[in-house]
Amino acid sequence: MTSPMHYVRRNKFHVLFFVILSIATTLNGSSNECNFPAIFNFGDSNSDTGGLAAAFIQPPPPYGQTYFNRPAGRFSDGRLIIDFIANSFGLPFLSPYLDSLGANYSYGGNFATASATIKLPPIILPQLPGLSPFFLDIQSAQFTQFKARTQFIKQQGGVFASLMPKQEYFQEALYTIDIGQNDLSGAFFLGKTIQQVNAAVPEIVKSFSINVKALYILGARSFWIHNTGPLGCIPYISLVFILAQRDQYGCAKQYNEVAQNFNQQLKEVVDQLRVELIQSTIIYVDIYSVKYSLFSNPTKFGFEQPLVTCCGYGGEYNYNTSAGCGESIDMNGSRVFVGSCDNRPTRVIWDGIHFTEAANKYVFDEISTGAFSDPPIPLNMACHKTST
Ligand SMILES: *[C@@H]1O[C@H](CO)[C@@H](O)[C@H](O)[C@H]1NC(C)=O
Ligand SMILES: *[C@@H]1O[C@H](CO)[C@@H](O)[C@H](O)[C@H]1NC(C)=O
Ligand SMILES: *[C@@H]1O[C@H](CO)[C@@H](O)[C@H](O)[C@H]1NC(C)=O
Repeated sequence: MTSPMHYVRRNKFHVLFFVILSIATTLNGSSNECNFPAIFNFGDSNSDTGGLAAAFIQPPPPYGQTYFNRPAGRFSDGRLIIDFIANSFGLPFLSPYLDSLGANYSYGGNFATASATIKLPPIILPQLPGLSPFFLDIQSAQFTQFKARTQFIKQQGGVFASLMPKQEYFQEALYTIDIGQNDLSGAFFLGKTIQQVNAAVPEIVKSFSINVKALYILGARSFWIHNTGPLGCIPYISLVFILAQRDQYGCAKQYNEVAQNFNQQLKEVVDQLRVELIQSTIIYVDIYSVKYSLFSNPTKFGFEQPLVTCCGYGGEYNYNTSAGCGESIDMNGSRVFVGSCDNRPTRVIWDGIHFTEAANKYVFDEISTGAFSDPPIPLNMACHKTST
C-alpha cells in the first residue's frame, strides 16, 4: 500500500535533503537508525491502549476483534498507530499508566486516554462520550510523578524494579503525542460555533506547547507529534452536524477547515518549540493529509465506503449515536446486537468515531517513511542528534 512513487512525487526535494543528511550523519560516524529503548505516549483515543478502559469502562466486543480477539482497551477493532510504532522498534505494546494490572513500564508507558483534550475543561462523565478528566496537563503531571516514582521503585529493588524504565531511558525515549481532536469536537458538542472554536485555538496550542516544554525539562529530547485528522469526514461530526456543507467527498467542509486551522497553529508552535528547545528533535507529522486520502481516494489504497461506519447501525452511514458499536438495541420489539461489518480490512471507520486497524496500519505505513514529516525525517531516524 505504501508506494515509493507516492513518496518520491511528494518529496523530491526531501529526498535530496535526505541524501545530504545521510552523508552528514555517516561522516559523523553515528548510525542512521535510532534505537529507542522506550516510548512515552500522550493523547486521546487515537493512541489510548487501555487507559480510559482501566479507569472506567472497557469498550465491549466486538472492539478488539481484529488481532487481539478480545476487547483490548482500544477504541478500534484492532491495533492503533501507536501499536505499530512500538512494534516497529521491537518494543511490546505500551502499558497504560492507569493500568494497575500486569503493567510493564520497562520500555515506556502510555498516558493517553480516550476523550482527552489539550485544554477544554474536562467534563467528568462515567459514560462516553464525555470528555476525559485526564487532559494533557494531567497526563503531563502523571508523567512527572511516573518519572520520580519509577526511579524510587527501581532503587528499592524487589519484584517491581524490573518493570520500571532505566533512568537514561527518559532522555533516550521517543515521545509521541496525538491530541487535539476532542478540543474541537468537544467544543462543537458543547454548542460552540465554528468561529468560537477557531477563536479558542491559540489558547489550545499554547497549552500544548507548555506541556511539551514540561516534558523537555524532565529530559525528553525526541518528539514525534501528530497533527489532528479530518474531523469533518468522521460520522460522529459529519452526521451530527448534518446540515454542514459537504466537500466533493462527502466530508463536512467547515469542520475540516477548523481542523486545518488547528493544525496550522499547532505547526507554528512546534516550529517555535524547535527553536527554543535546542537539544530536541521535534517532528511534526501531517496525519491529516494521510487520513484525508482515505476519504478522497479510498480505492487507490485498497479501501471502500470510507464514510460508512463498520460497527454501527442504521441510516446511510450505518451510524446512530443511540445505537453504538457493541450495544444491543430494541428494534421493532426484538433485541438487535450492533456488530461489525464483514469486510474490516477494506473499511476506514470502525465505530463512527475511530478508525479501523486496517486504516491505522495504512496511516502508520505512510507516516513512518517520513513523507509526511516536517522536517522530512522518517520514524526510525527521529532521535536526538547532538548539536556538537
Ligand atoms: C517487561 O518488558 C521487558 C521488555 O520487553 C521484558 O524483557 C520483560 O521480560 C518484561 N517483564 C515481564 C515481567 O513481563
Ligand atoms: C437513531 O435511532 C433512533 C432510535 O432507534 C431513531 O429514533 C432515530 O431516528 C435514529 N436517527 C437517525 C439519524 O437515523
Ligand atoms: C421496523 O419496522 C418498520 C415499520 O414497520 C420497518 O420499516 C423496518 O424495516 C423495521 N426494521 C427492522 C430492522 O426490521
